[in-house]
Amino acid sequence: MDPEVLKQAPLFKGLEDEAASALSAAMGTIRLSKGEILFHEGELEDRLYVVVKGKIKLGRSGSAGRENLLAVLGPGQMFGELSLFDPGPRSTTATAVTNCELRTLEHDELMTWLTGRPEVARGLLGQLAARLRRANDVVADLVFSDVPGRVAKALLDLATRFGERKDDGIHVHHDLTQEELAQLVGASRETVNKALADFAARGWIRLEPRSVTLIDVDRVERRAR
Ligand code: CMP
Repeated sequence: MDPEVLKQAPLFKGLEDEAASALSAAMGTIRLSKGEILFHEGELEDRLYVVVKGKIKLGRSGSAGRENLLAVLGPGQMFGELSLFDPGPRSTTATAVTNCELRTLEHDELMTWLTGRPEVARGLLGQLAARLRRANDVVADLVFSDVPGRVAKALLDLATRFGERKDDGIHVHHDLTQEELAQLVGASRETVNKALADFAARGWIRLEPRSVTLIDVDRVERRAR
């Protein structure tokens, strides 16, 4: 059985060690370099992925070359299961934000586990439910929240996965460019930069290239509400 990180993946939740080792043994490993595209939106491909190291962004492109980021995933997170339950092409493009190591599982193999081990099915359903909740929140925020509110929410969300608590605040090494942050918030780069600069001027955050430190988490949380 691999790294602890695999055990955090929803598929492995509830599996005892022996079954977890067997599931892990059924999985392949792939490595991606920063910037490499794993699959494109619309492609037919039938594997599920678990991030072991690095960060993966899931995005869609709209008209006039605009990009929207649906999620940035880190170690222990899983993607690529929608096209199993709702057969069809990939719903997003998956790109490596940093060098990555991923474990892979063929959909056929996953189906065998889902029918044989209810714990695996429960873990996967749990992830789908959590994602639907999050997607509902994102839609509501697009309707009800202003851009600074959405920026504050995005920072807190990144902090839950990539944050490290230190004496001066939560250091969030997100590895995203300002353009990618804007794509995640669903607003223009200019508006998102303005919000970030305003938070920094108020002393709530400190901006660094591809990372941010949340100094006054309370204020950021209040702005996110
Ligand atoms: P699939 O459509 O097979 O390939 C792209 C994957 O991106 C998809 O499965 C999901 O696993 C993942 N995905 C799609 N939409 C979202 C979202 N809103 N949040 C997180 N992950 C998503």
